[in-house]
Amino acid sequence: MEVIIAKNSAEGSSIAARLVANLVRRKPNAVLGLATGATPLLLYQELVRLHREEGLDFGGVTTFNLDEYVGLPPSHSGSYYSYMKKNLLDHINVPPQGINVPDGLTADIPKFCGEYEARIKKAGGIDLQVLGIGADGHIGFNEPTSSLASRTRIKTLTVETLRDNGADFGGVANAPHHVITMGIGTILESRVCLLMAFGEKKAGVVALAVEGPLTSMVPASALQLHPSAKFILDEAAAAGLEKRSYYNYVYEHKPSWQCE
Ligand code: F6R
Repeated sequence: MEVIIAKNSAEGSSIAARLVANLVRRKPNAVLGLATGATPLLLYQELVRLHREEGLDFGGVTTFNLDEYVGLPPSHSGSYYSYMKKNLLDHINVPPQGINVPDGLTADIPKFCGEYEARIKKAGGIDLQVLGIGADGHIGFNEPTSSLASRTRIKTLTVETLRDNGADFGGVANAPHHVITMGIGTILESRVCLLMAFGEKKAGVVALAVEGPLTSMVPASALQLHPSAKFILDEAAAAGLEKRSYYNYVYEHKPSWQCE
């Protein structure tokens, strides 16, 4: 696991964007796993800038989103499909057939989830998965006690997550309570996992995920099992880490052959 502590979210997002851009340049048919929420917004802005100003070409790229609300049509302003179109996909050149977001309206959720997994496999697996982290430690919408071996499936959101996301729906009462999410087992199969966390609200849970025990009570701690997981944090989100100075030392002394 690599822990990168940036000065602020802008610097952290540009480090993340550089990793994504390097991958897309190296492998034009890369498969990207994408997240929604507040955390990746600056990363997506930077990818749009790289596309517009530096010609970063997403023409061969395939994307898979982590999750979607059950019961929302893609056209709903609160859907993750809408979020992705608005914040990234309408502004870069991923071909429409390369875009995959779970279908919140599917009539047969288990069948759809099996097919989503099969689509990921057929695409060659996810090269790089972008992740945020919930205040309760979730990745995707794998809430605490999710099986560490779980695959794409339906999950019920915790009250805490509903409270965090309720604003997108004008309050918790109107927010969907169920989601389709990639499982922790699905996420762990990505070749690289890039978890970003910014702000003091995330400090406690980041410390648990990075330095606490591996436990389904903190789903992000499962990344301790991943051979190539990177946590990109700002100083506020890193504030609870005991080995902060070691992570900074490692990053500053990274040999050039290790830099991507
Ligand atoms: C979103 C997702 C979630 C978020 C997490 C953090 O697709 O999978 O795990 O990454 O809830 O959300 P923000 O970034 O809004 O704090």
